[in-house]
Amino acid sequence: MRIGFFDSGIGGMTVLHQALRFLPNEDYIFYADTLHVPYGEKPKEEVREYIFNAVDFMANQGIKALVIACNTATSIAVDDLRKKYDFPILGIEPAVKPAVQSCEGKRKKVLVLATNLTLREEKFHNLVNSIDQHDIVESLPLPGLVQFAENFEFREEKVVPYLEERLSSFDIKQYGTIVLGCTHFPYFEDSLREIFPEEVDIISGSIGTAKNLKRILEANNQINEGSGDILFFKSGDKVEDQDALSNYKKLLVKLDELLLMSTKS
Ligand code: DGL
Repeated sequence: MRIGFFDSGIGGMTVLHQALRFLPNEDYIFYADTLHVPYGEKPKEEVREYIFNAVDFMANQGIKALVIACNTATSIAVDDLRKKYDFPILGIEPAVKPAVQSCEGKRKKVLVLATNLTLREEKFHNLVNSIDQHDIVESLPLPGLVQFAENFEFREEKVVPYLEERLSSFDIKQYGTIVLGCTHFPYFEDSLREIFPEEVDIISGSIGTAKNLKRILEANNQINEGSGDILFFKSGDKVEDQDALSNYKKLLVKLDELLLMSTKS
């Protein structure tokens, strides 16, 4: 059986990209709820309904595990989804814990970038309160990045001015770690690097989620010998258009390049 990956849009590909590194012989279904993106700017109850509809659809396709490759969806629905379905469900949340651990010793602050909905949610506040003893965690919503990503606008000339404007009241030197708390944001690591110097860590929860997925499949004896095949769906419709499929492939190539850039530095 395949593994399901779900997001409001193309952000989930940044997590699937990591899964393909750790589990290259699995087959996948990638579901983007493109009719309803962006989730982060909509009321919670509305988004919750979209999420349950999408997961019902994926469950009917037959999946052996589900990754909610969306911080926003995880924060508002993962607990209830786990009550409803009996396959393993993994979520992704802002990697605040490792960020705080690394910054405390350096006397630096942590900046969490995410959607408005994620940052408003109780789950995020509980997470920060349980870890942030010295009040070093700050946050900033960046809905514009979700929009840029959905429009495939990754060029630095377009993105950097937006980031500069959103960060204009922040003292960049104070930060030791930037947490990418939205799966759409890793596409912009090159633009973020224009603003945050090399000594600032830029991290996300995607590697942890992919490793966790591998651990769970191994523990359940559910490792496959597939070929890394991916079926794409947009809000319930199978993607068969060759241009759209090749755009997804291009995203994986872009993520490979960004990975290379970050491992070199
Ligand atoms: N990619 C999603 C996340 O990780 C949400 C983006 C959106 O739909 O607003 O939060």
